[in-house]
Amino acid sequence: MVQQKIIVTGGAGYIGSHTTVALQNAGYRVVILDNLSNSDKDSMDGIVRITGVRPEFEHIDCTDRTAMHRIFERHRDAIGVIHFAALKAVGESVEKPLLYYRNNLGGLMNVLDMMTEFKIPYLVFSSSATVYGVPDKLPVTEDTPLQPATSPYGQTKVMGENIIADTVVANSGLSATLLRYFNPIGAHPSGEIGERPNGVPNNLMPYICQAAAGVRECLCVFGDDYDTPDGFCIRDYIDINDLANAHVAAMRHLQSGATGVNVFNLGTGCGQSVMQLIRAFEKATGVTIPHKITSRRAGDVPAIYANACRAEQILGWRAVVPLHETLASAWRWQQKITKSK
Ligand code: NAD
Ligand code: UD1
Repeated sequence: MVQQKIIVTGGAGYIGSHTTVALQNAGYRVVILDNLSNSDKDSMDGIVRITGVRPEFEHIDCTDRTAMHRIFERHRDAIGVIHFAALKAVGESVEKPLLYYRNNLGGLMNVLDMMTEFKIPYLVFSSSATVYGVPDKLPVTEDTPLQPATSPYGQTKVMGENIIADTVVANSGLSATLLRYFNPIGAHPSGEIGERPNGVPNNLMPYICQAAAGVRECLCVFGDDYDTPDGFCIRDYIDINDLANAHVAAMRHLQSGATGVNVFNLGTGCGQSVMQLIRAFEKATGVTIPHKITSRRAGDVPAIYANACRAEQILGWRAVVPLHETLASAWRWQQKITKSK
């Protein structure tokens, strides 16, 4: 049987590498487009060790229109694109807004142009729970009103969703799915691929792992005076492998005839506070996390978690990996990368 080809932009990165594994395991042929600005080619070797298959790799910047044209022409037989390639550091986006707009929206617009020109029909886009801002009601459903984003990074997700919606209206041959991720954490259970943050991590999970490994002295817990049951911020932490599988389900759903723009929350439906996550990590790994309470971080949403029922009803997908397994996989990966340094 001829394998169907999927172009995965940003496929060398954290979510893209796990999704490539899921796609290859599901029988797709993957071509990765990445400029390696926040990843390295080691993730390809990890993918090969897990699946036995090396995805095709194109070293390319999605904002380079001429290069994108050349690559899409070469892969015009692809049936779909999963577009992960973006910069994602919220603080940096406040300092360098134009870098974020240019990279995240310029790249997306090139992808849409190429899909239109080469008649590639299916797009899956990485959006974020950040589009809900500070929600009035929890859990958030896909119909919860969007709020103005609190950072240029967040804006690129809100604007990206709108750009895709407008393009789908104008191009009847294109259908798209927007996946709004909650907080992806963990690593592949094999320990072969995982998250590799550059420098000091902004996100909680990699910081917890580095504090556990002694790479960082102490985790700062940002605020204990929120209006939540234990005073700490609440998030919906979803296993990276569950998240990856949702992309396969989303692609199959488009292939089965879904038209227009489809939107799905990808979360577990359960909120965990920062302190609950620290305690769960300690229990899952037996390692104590040195931590101290500090003031709130500007821009943090007090509490957000998903209603992910639509994904279950329509995609037949739901998060299944128990939190303790996710935390154990994150720790296994951290130990591996600490050793290899
Ligand atoms: P990541 O940084 O690990 O992966 C992104 C990949 O895209 C990297 O390999 C990077 O080198 C590549 N890239 C960036 N700009 C590029 C460009 N112009 N051309 C080619 N390649 C480029 O990040 P991730 O966590 O895997 O995130 C993937 C997507 O999911 C992003 O769009 C991100 O905004 C979105 N997202 C992530 C989270 C999260 O918590 N990780 C949450 C919500 C949404
Ligand atoms: C953040 C971004 C979001 C982005 C996502 C993925 C902000 C405001 N939001 O989400 O737009 O899509 O990352 O890149 O930056 N925490 C600590 N100590 C730490 C780090 C985090 O206490 O050292 C807390 C935070 O206050 C928060 C929780 O842990 O309550 C999760 O933080 P984080 O992992 O950064 O994710 P989000 O803020 O949800």
